[in-house]
Amino acid sequence: MSAPLLFSPLPLRGLELAHRAWVSPMCQYSCDPVLAPGVPTAWHLVHLGQFAAGGAALVFTEATAVNAAGRISPRDTGIYNDAQESAWRGITDFIHTHSEVGAKVGIQLAHAGRKASTWWPFSGQSGSVPPADHGWATVGATAEPFDSFAAPRAMTEAGIATVVADFGAAAARAVRAGFDIVEIHAAHGYLLHQFLSPLVNTRSDGWGGSESGRFRLALAVIDAVRANVPAVMPVFLRISATDWSDGGLDGASSVRLARAASARGVDLIDVSSGGAIPGARIPVGPGYQTSFAEQIRREAGVPTAAVGLISSPEQAEHIVASGQADAVFLARELLRHPHWWLDAAQVLGADVPWAPQYQRAARRPG
Ligand SMILES: Cc1cc2nc3c(=O)[nH]c(=O)nc-3n(C[C@H](O)[C@H](O)[C@H](O)COP(=O)(O)O)c2cc1C
Repeated sequence: MSAPLLFSPLPLRGLELAHRAWVSPMCQYSCDPVLAPGVPTAWHLVHLGQFAAGGAALVFTEATAVNAAGRISPRDTGIYNDAQESAWRGITDFIHTHSEVGAKVGIQLAHAGRKASTWWPFSGQSGSVPPADHGWATVGATAEPFDSFAAPRAMTEAGIATVVADFGAAAARAVRAGFDIVEIHAAHGYLLHQFLSPLVNTRSDGWGGSESGRFRLALAVIDAVRANVPAVMPVFLRISATDWSDGGLDGASSVRLARAASARGVDLIDVSSGGAIPGARIPVGPGYQTSFAEQIRREAGVPTAAVGLISSPEQAEHIVASGQADAVFLARELLRHPHWWLDAAQVLGADVPWAPQYQRAARRPG
Protein backbone atom coordinates (compact mmCIF):
# COMPACT_ATOMS: atom_id res chain seq x y z
CA MET A 1 0.00 0.00 0.00
CA SER A 2 1.50 3.41 -0.92
CA ALA A 3 1.68 6.01 1.86
CA PRO A 4 -1.63 7.85 2.06
CA LEU A 5 -1.50 11.55 1.21
CA LEU A 6 -4.21 12.17 3.82
CA PHE A 7 -1.75 11.38 6.59
CA SER A 8 1.12 13.38 5.12
CA PRO A 9 2.02 16.84 6.48
CA LEU A 10 0.74 20.04 4.89
CA PRO A 11 2.91 23.16 5.25
CA LEU A 12 1.03 26.47 5.29
CA ARG A 13 3.00 29.69 5.82
CA GLY A 14 5.07 29.23 8.99
CA LEU A 15 3.09 26.21 10.15
CA GLU A 16 3.02 22.52 9.35
CA LEU A 17 -0.14 20.50 9.89
CA ALA A 18 0.70 16.89 10.75
CA HIS A 19 -1.98 15.55 8.39
CA ARG A 20 -4.92 16.67 6.26
CA ALA A 21 -8.17 15.53 7.91
CA TRP A 22 -9.35 18.37 10.12
CA VAL A 23 -12.10 19.17 12.61
CA SER A 24 -14.71 21.41 10.98
CA PRO A 25 -16.20 24.26 13.03
CA MET A 26 -19.25 23.08 14.98
CA CYS A 27 -21.39 25.33 17.20
CA GLN A 28 -22.13 23.73 20.57
CA TYR A 29 -24.56 26.35 21.94
CA SER A 30 -23.13 25.62 25.37
CA CYS A 31 -22.33 28.98 26.99
CA ASP A 32 -24.26 30.37 29.93
CA PRO A 33 -26.15 33.28 28.31
CA VAL A 34 -26.69 35.12 31.61
CA LEU A 35 -23.75 34.48 33.93
CA ALA A 36 -20.95 34.31 31.34
CA PRO A 37 -22.16 35.16 27.82
CA GLY A 38 -19.76 34.05 25.10
CA VAL A 39 -17.35 32.33 27.51
CA PRO A 40 -16.45 28.76 26.47
CA THR A 41 -17.17 26.19 29.18
CA ALA A 42 -16.03 22.75 30.34
CA TRP A 43 -18.22 21.36 27.55
CA HIS A 44 -16.05 23.11 24.93
CA LEU A 45 -12.87 21.82 26.59
CA VAL A 46 -14.11 18.22 26.56
CA HIS A 47 -15.65 18.50 23.10
CA LEU A 48 -12.56 20.00 21.43
CA GLY A 49 -10.08 18.15 23.64
CA GLN A 50 -11.45 14.73 22.70
CA PHE A 51 -10.39 15.31 19.09
CA ALA A 52 -6.80 16.03 20.17
CA ALA A 53 -6.84 12.75 22.13
CA GLY A 54 -8.17 11.06 18.99
CA GLY A 55 -5.28 12.09 16.74
CA ALA A 56 -6.58 15.29 15.08
CA ALA A 57 -3.92 17.50 13.49
CA LEU A 58 -6.10 20.62 13.37
CA VAL A 59 -9.00 21.33 15.70
CA PHE A 60 -11.26 24.24 14.82
CA THR A 61 -13.53 26.01 17.28
CA GLU A 62 -17.12 26.76 16.45
CA ALA A 63 -18.17 30.09 14.90
CA THR A 64 -16.92 32.49 17.56
CA ALA A 65 -18.43 35.95 17.57
CA VAL A 66 -16.30 39.08 17.21
CA ASN A 67 -18.89 41.11 19.17
CA ALA A 68 -21.97 40.35 21.26
CA ALA A 69 -24.45 41.16 18.47
CA GLY A 70 -22.64 38.77 16.12
CA ARG A 71 -23.55 35.63 18.10
CA ILE A 72 -25.90 33.23 16.30
CA SER A 73 -27.66 32.44 19.58
CA PRO A 74 -27.37 33.66 23.19
CA ARG A 75 -25.46 30.43 23.94
CA ASP A 76 -22.70 30.99 21.35
CA THR A 77 -19.05 31.61 22.14
CA GLY A 78 -17.29 34.92 21.57
CA ILE A 79 -13.81 36.40 21.68
CA TYR A 80 -14.47 40.04 22.45
CA ASN A 81 -13.63 40.30 26.17
CA ASP A 82 -10.93 39.19 28.60
CA ALA A 83 -12.96 36.41 30.25
CA GLN A 84 -13.56 34.76 26.86
CA GLU A 85 -9.92 35.16 25.82
CA SER A 86 -8.67 33.56 29.01
CA ALA A 87 -11.15 30.65 28.81
CA TRP A 88 -10.02 29.94 25.24
CA ARG A 89 -6.42 29.91 26.48
CA GLY A 90 -7.22 26.93 28.72
CA ILE A 91 -8.55 25.03 25.71
CA THR A 92 -5.65 25.80 23.36
CA ASP A 93 -3.21 24.86 26.14
CA PHE A 94 -4.93 21.50 26.65
CA ILE A 95 -4.83 20.63 22.95
CA HIS A 96 -1.21 21.70 22.55
CA THR A 97 -0.16 19.76 25.64
CA HIS A 98 -2.03 16.52 25.03
CA SER A 99 -1.80 15.96 21.29
CA GLU A 100 0.63 13.23 20.22
CA VAL A 101 0.78 14.64 16.66
CA GLY A 102 1.43 18.25 17.67
CA ALA A 103 -2.11 19.38 16.86
CA LYS A 104 -2.80 23.00 15.94
CA VAL A 105 -5.89 24.91 17.02
CA GLY A 106 -7.88 27.21 14.78
CA ILE A 107 -10.59 29.70 15.69
CA GLN A 108 -13.42 30.55 13.33
CA LEU A 109 -14.21 34.27 13.69
CA ALA A 110 -17.78 35.14 12.82
CA HIS A 111 -20.58 37.68 12.81
CA ALA A 112 -24.05 36.29 12.15
CA GLY A 113 -25.61 39.56 10.88
CA ARG A 114 -29.32 39.11 10.16
CA LYS A 115 -29.10 35.45 11.28
CA ALA A 116 -28.02 36.46 14.82
CA SER A 117 -30.09 36.25 18.02
CA THR A 118 -31.82 33.01 17.05
CA TRP A 119 -32.92 30.06 19.16
CA TRP A 120 -30.36 27.27 19.31
CA PRO A 121 -31.30 23.94 17.71
CA PHE A 122 -32.09 22.01 20.90
CA SER A 123 -33.97 24.89 22.60
CA GLY A 124 -37.33 23.53 21.49
CA GLN A 125 -38.09 26.89 19.84
CA SER A 126 -37.30 28.46 16.47
CA GLY A 127 -36.86 31.90 14.93
CA SER A 128 -35.55 35.02 16.63
CA VAL A 129 -34.99 35.25 20.38
CA PRO A 130 -36.89 38.19 21.94
CA PRO A 131 -35.07 40.63 24.28
CA ALA A 132 -36.86 39.14 27.31
CA ASP A 133 -35.01 35.87 26.62
CA HIS A 134 -31.62 37.58 26.15
CA GLY A 135 -32.06 38.27 22.42
CA TRP A 136 -31.01 41.52 20.73
CA ALA A 137 -31.62 43.71 17.66
CA THR A 138 -29.71 42.49 14.60
CA VAL A 139 -27.90 44.17 11.69
CA GLY A 140 -27.52 43.08 8.08
CA ALA A 141 -26.40 44.17 4.64
CA THR A 142 -29.95 45.47 4.13
CA ALA A 143 -33.10 45.71 6.26
CA GLU A 144 -34.56 42.56 4.62
CA PRO A 145 -35.06 39.72 7.11
CA PHE A 146 -33.92 36.14 6.55
CA ASP A 147 -37.00 33.94 6.30
CA SER A 148 -39.19 34.44 9.37
CA PHE A 149 -36.43 35.98 11.52
CA ALA A 150 -36.76 39.51 12.92
CA ALA A 151 -35.84 42.25 10.43
CA PRO A 152 -32.30 43.61 10.84
CA ARG A 153 -31.15 47.21 10.63
CA ALA A 154 -29.18 47.93 7.43
CA MET A 155 -25.60 48.58 8.45
CA THR A 156 -24.32 52.15 8.32
CA GLU A 157 -20.79 53.19 7.23
CA ALA A 158 -19.88 53.61 10.90
CA GLY A 159 -21.36 50.21 11.79
CA ILE A 160 -19.35 48.55 9.03
CA ALA A 161 -16.13 50.21 10.23
CA THR A 162 -16.83 48.95 13.76
CA VAL A 163 -17.36 45.35 12.60
CA VAL A 164 -14.13 45.43 10.60
CA ALA A 165 -12.28 46.70 13.68
CA ASP A 166 -13.98 44.02 15.82
CA PHE A 167 -12.66 41.27 13.52
CA GLY A 168 -9.17 42.79 13.87
CA ALA A 169 -9.41 42.99 17.67
CA ALA A 170 -10.75 39.42 17.85
CA ALA A 171 -7.82 38.19 15.74
CA ALA A 172 -5.38 39.89 18.15
CA ARG A 173 -7.15 38.21 21.08
CA ALA A 174 -6.98 34.86 19.26
CA VAL A 175 -3.21 35.17 18.99
CA ARG A 176 -2.98 35.96 22.72
CA ALA A 177 -5.26 33.01 23.51
CA GLY A 178 -2.81 30.63 21.81
CA PHE A 179 -4.57 29.89 18.52
CA ASP A 180 -2.40 28.85 15.57
CA ILE A 181 -4.81 29.67 12.73
CA VAL A 182 -7.65 32.16 12.24
CA GLU A 183 -10.51 31.39 9.88
CA ILE A 184 -12.87 34.14 8.74
CA HIS A 185 -16.45 32.86 8.42
CA ALA A 186 -17.84 34.27 5.17
CA ALA A 187 -20.28 31.41 4.49
CA HIS A 188 -23.70 30.02 5.47
CA GLY A 189 -25.66 33.26 5.11
CA TYR A 190 -23.91 35.08 7.96
CA LEU A 191 -22.87 38.73 7.79
CA LEU A 192 -19.96 38.55 5.33
CA HIS A 193 -21.92 36.21 3.05
CA GLN A 194 -24.87 38.62 3.25
CA PHE A 195 -22.61 41.28 1.74
CA LEU A 196 -21.07 38.90 -0.84
CA SER A 197 -24.31 37.51 -2.29
CA PRO A 198 -25.99 39.50 -5.07
CA LEU A 199 -29.31 38.00 -3.97
CA VAL A 200 -29.00 39.50 -0.49
CA ASN A 201 -26.82 42.59 -0.94
CA THR A 202 -28.98 45.06 -2.85
CA ARG A 203 -27.16 48.09 -1.43
CA SER A 204 -26.36 50.88 -3.87
CA ASP A 205 -23.46 52.43 -1.90
CA GLY A 206 -19.78 51.46 -2.05
CA TRP A 207 -20.47 48.24 -0.06
CA GLY A 208 -22.70 46.82 -2.79
CA GLY A 209 -23.84 47.71 -6.27
CA SER A 210 -21.15 45.69 -8.10
CA GLU A 211 -19.11 42.59 -7.47
CA SER A 212 -16.20 44.64 -6.16
CA GLY A 213 -18.60 46.51 -3.86
CA ARG A 214 -20.05 43.23 -2.56
CA PHE A 215 -16.59 41.71 -2.01
CA ARG A 216 -15.37 44.86 -0.21
CA LEU A 217 -16.41 43.96 3.36
CA ALA A 218 -14.91 40.45 3.25
CA LEU A 219 -11.67 41.85 1.86
CA ALA A 220 -11.57 44.64 4.47
CA VAL A 221 -12.02 42.00 7.19
CA ILE A 222 -9.16 39.94 5.70
CA ASP A 223 -6.93 43.05 5.86
CA ALA A 224 -7.94 43.71 9.49
CA VAL A 225 -7.27 40.10 10.51
CA ARG A 226 -3.95 39.92 8.67
CA ALA A 227 -2.81 43.17 10.28
CA ASN A 228 -3.40 41.66 13.74
CA VAL A 229 -1.79 38.23 13.40
CA PRO A 230 1.88 37.31 12.95
CA ALA A 231 3.11 37.06 9.35
CA VAL A 232 3.78 33.34 9.87
CA MET A 233 0.19 32.57 10.94
CA PRO A 234 -2.11 31.07 8.31
CA VAL A 235 -5.48 32.74 7.69
CA PHE A 236 -8.34 30.70 6.21
CA LEU A 237 -11.55 31.94 4.59
CA ARG A 238 -14.71 29.80 4.72
CA ILE A 239 -17.03 30.64 1.82
CA SER A 240 -20.28 29.42 0.43
CA ALA A 241 -19.08 28.80 -3.11
CA THR A 242 -22.63 28.77 -4.44
CA ASP A 243 -25.99 30.10 -3.28
CA TRP A 244 -27.62 27.21 -5.19
CA SER A 245 -29.96 29.87 -6.65
CA ASP A 246 -30.16 31.61 -10.02
CA GLY A 247 -28.39 34.96 -9.95
CA GLY A 248 -26.51 34.10 -6.75
CA LEU A 249 -22.87 33.34 -6.00
CA ASP A 250 -21.47 30.49 -8.11
CA GLY A 251 -18.23 28.69 -8.87
CA ALA A 252 -16.97 31.44 -11.21
CA SER A 253 -17.58 34.30 -8.74
CA SER A 254 -16.00 32.20 -5.99
CA VAL A 255 -12.85 31.75 -8.07
CA ARG A 256 -12.64 35.56 -8.37
CA LEU A 257 -13.18 35.97 -4.62
CA ALA A 258 -10.53 33.34 -3.88
CA ARG A 259 -8.01 35.16 -6.10
CA ALA A 260 -8.71 38.49 -4.36
CA ALA A 261 -8.56 36.88 -0.92
CA SER A 262 -5.30 35.11 -1.70
CA ALA A 263 -3.73 38.35 -2.95
CA ARG A 264 -4.51 39.85 0.49
CA GLY A 265 -2.92 37.03 2.46
CA VAL A 266 -5.51 34.26 2.78
CA ASP A 267 -3.72 30.90 2.71
CA LEU A 268 -6.57 28.46 2.20
CA ILE A 269 -10.19 28.61 1.07
CA ASP A 270 -12.50 26.35 3.08
CA VAL A 271 -15.21 25.58 0.56
CA SER A 272 -18.75 25.15 1.83
CA SER A 273 -22.03 26.27 0.23
CA GLY A 274 -25.52 27.65 0.77
CA GLY A 275 -27.18 29.28 3.77
CA ALA A 276 -28.08 32.73 2.44
CA ILE A 277 -31.28 31.94 0.56
CA PRO A 278 -34.17 30.27 2.39
CA GLY A 279 -35.60 27.34 0.44
CA ALA A 280 -32.64 26.98 -1.97
CA ARG A 281 -32.63 23.45 -3.38
CA ILE A 282 -29.31 21.85 -2.42
CA PRO A 283 -28.35 18.48 -3.94
CA VAL A 284 -27.00 17.06 -0.69
CA GLY A 285 -25.01 13.83 -1.02
CA PRO A 286 -21.51 12.50 -0.33
CA GLY A 287 -18.94 15.04 -1.50
CA TYR A 288 -21.62 17.40 -2.90
CA GLN A 289 -19.47 20.50 -2.36
CA THR A 290 -16.12 18.99 -3.37
CA SER A 291 -16.30 20.03 -7.04
CA PHE A 292 -16.22 23.69 -5.93
CA ALA A 293 -13.07 23.08 -3.87
CA GLU A 294 -11.55 21.48 -6.96
CA GLN A 295 -12.57 24.36 -9.26
CA ILE A 296 -11.20 27.04 -6.91
CA ARG A 297 -7.95 25.12 -6.36
CA ARG A 298 -7.43 24.66 -10.11
CA GLU A 299 -8.61 28.03 -11.46
CA ALA A 300 -7.52 30.37 -8.66
CA GLY A 301 -4.37 28.40 -7.77
CA VAL A 302 -5.18 28.66 -4.04
CA PRO A 303 -5.04 25.76 -1.56
CA THR A 304 -8.52 24.55 -0.64
CA ALA A 305 -10.20 22.31 1.90
CA ALA A 306 -13.31 20.31 1.02
CA VAL A 307 -16.17 19.73 3.44
CA GLY A 308 -19.60 18.11 3.38
CA LEU A 309 -20.61 14.49 3.99
CA ILE A 310 -17.04 13.24 4.02
CA SER A 311 -16.88 10.29 6.37
CA SER A 312 -14.79 7.29 5.30
CA PRO A 313 -10.97 7.30 5.30
CA GLU A 314 -11.00 6.05 1.68
CA GLN A 315 -13.26 8.91 0.56
CA ALA A 316 -11.10 11.49 2.36
CA GLU A 317 -7.92 10.01 0.86
CA HIS A 318 -9.45 10.02 -2.62
CA ILE A 319 -10.32 13.73 -2.38
CA VAL A 320 -6.77 14.80 -1.54
CA ALA A 321 -4.96 12.18 -3.64
CA SER A 322 -6.95 13.10 -6.76
CA GLY A 323 -6.12 16.78 -6.27
CA GLN A 324 -9.66 17.99 -5.56
CA ALA A 325 -8.49 19.66 -2.33
CA ASP A 326 -5.40 19.95 -0.16
CA ALA A 327 -7.27 18.84 2.96
CA VAL A 328 -10.71 17.83 4.17
CA PHE A 329 -12.85 19.03 7.05
CA LEU A 330 -15.11 16.52 8.81
CA ALA A 331 -17.99 17.50 11.10
CA ARG A 332 -20.82 15.07 11.92
CA GLU A 333 -18.70 11.95 11.43
CA LEU A 334 -16.46 13.22 14.24
CA LEU A 335 -19.41 13.60 16.61
CA ARG A 336 -20.04 9.90 16.01
CA HIS A 337 -16.35 8.93 16.13
CA PRO A 338 -14.27 11.54 17.97
CA HIS A 339 -11.15 9.33 17.70
CA TRP A 340 -11.67 8.88 13.92
CA TRP A 341 -7.97 9.34 13.03
CA LEU A 342 -6.73 6.40 15.11
CA ASP A 343 -8.86 3.98 13.09
CA ALA A 344 -8.57 5.85 9.76
CA ALA A 345 -4.78 5.68 9.91
CA GLN A 346 -4.92 1.90 10.43
CA VAL A 347 -7.37 1.52 7.53
CA LEU A 348 -5.09 3.49 5.18
CA GLY A 349 -1.87 1.94 6.45
CA ALA A 350 -0.53 5.06 8.16
CA ASP A 351 0.66 5.59 11.68
CA VAL A 352 -0.93 8.06 14.09
CA PRO A 353 0.49 7.82 17.61
CA TRP A 354 -1.97 7.05 20.40
CA ALA A 355 -2.17 9.04 23.62
CA PRO A 356 -0.12 7.18 26.26
CA GLN A 357 -3.23 6.96 28.44
CA TYR A 358 -4.99 5.01 25.66
CA GLN A 359 -2.14 2.85 24.43
CA ARG A 360 -3.47 -0.35 26.00
CA ALA A 361 -6.29 -0.16 23.44
CA ALA A 362 -4.05 0.50 20.43
CA ARG A 363 -3.53 -3.12 19.44
CA ARG A 364 -6.69 -5.11 19.11
CA PRO A 365 -6.53 -8.62 20.59
CA GLY A 366 -6.49 -11.50 18.10
C1 LIG B 1 -23.48 20.64 15.19
C2 LIG B 1 -22.95 21.41 14.00
C3 LIG B 1 -22.57 22.73 14.20
C4 LIG B 1 -22.02 23.46 13.12
N1 LIG B 1 -21.52 24.72 13.34
C5 LIG B 1 -20.81 25.35 12.37
C6 LIG B 1 -20.07 26.53 12.63
O1 LIG B 1 -20.01 27.01 13.77
N2 LIG B 1 -19.42 27.12 11.60
C7 LIG B 1 -19.43 26.59 10.34
O2 LIG B 1 -18.82 27.15 9.43
N3 LIG B 1 -20.09 25.44 10.07
C8 LIG B 1 -20.75 24.80 11.05
N4 LIG B 1 -21.34 23.60 10.81
C9 LIG B 1 -21.17 23.00 9.48
C10 LIG B 1 -19.99 22.03 9.49
O3 LIG B 1 -18.77 22.68 9.78
C11 LIG B 1 -19.88 21.31 8.12
O4 LIG B 1 -19.55 22.27 7.16
C12 LIG B 1 -21.16 20.60 7.74
O5 LIG B 1 -21.73 19.91 8.86
C13 LIG B 1 -20.92 19.58 6.62
O6 LIG B 1 -19.95 18.63 7.02
P1 LIG B 1 -20.36 17.13 7.53
O7 LIG B 1 -21.20 16.54 6.46
O8 LIG B 1 -19.03 16.46 7.71
O9 LIG B 1 -21.12 17.29 8.81
C14 LIG B 1 -21.92 22.88 11.84
C15 LIG B 1 -22.36 21.56 11.66
C16 LIG B 1 -22.86 20.82 12.72
C17 LIG B 1 -23.26 19.39 12.51
